[in-house]
Amino acid sequence: MPPADPSRDARFVRLDETHRPAVAFELDGRPASALEGDTLLVALLSNGGFARRSEFGGEARAGFCLMGACQDCWVWTADGERLRACSTPVAAGMRVLTADPWDPA
Ligand code: FES
Repeated sequence: MPPADPSRDARFVRLDETHRPAVAFELDGRPASALEGDTLLVALLSNGGFARRSEFGGEARAGFCLMGACQDCWVWTADGERLRACSTPVAAGMRVLTADPWDPA
């Protein structure tokens, strides 16, 4: 499987704490990597330029408050579970979708 989509330029660039163990997960069906202890939002924004697409117009969203209050960082697992990315720790093997799998659009 190809690596994470290179067109999704990372929004976050890690400057420190690079010694933490790597955590492999899947982002929209592609392999991606984070570091142990990252929130899912950090993992997403370190692998691309957004966390999800707006349900109202498809614009890229990257979270706003980063503390679980604004609801701007909802993502889904491949199993259809909805997660708030800023308050969910990334986990090895997690399969994350940036689009709602239940949305028929
Ligand atoms: S960024 Fe605001 S709730 Fe996650």
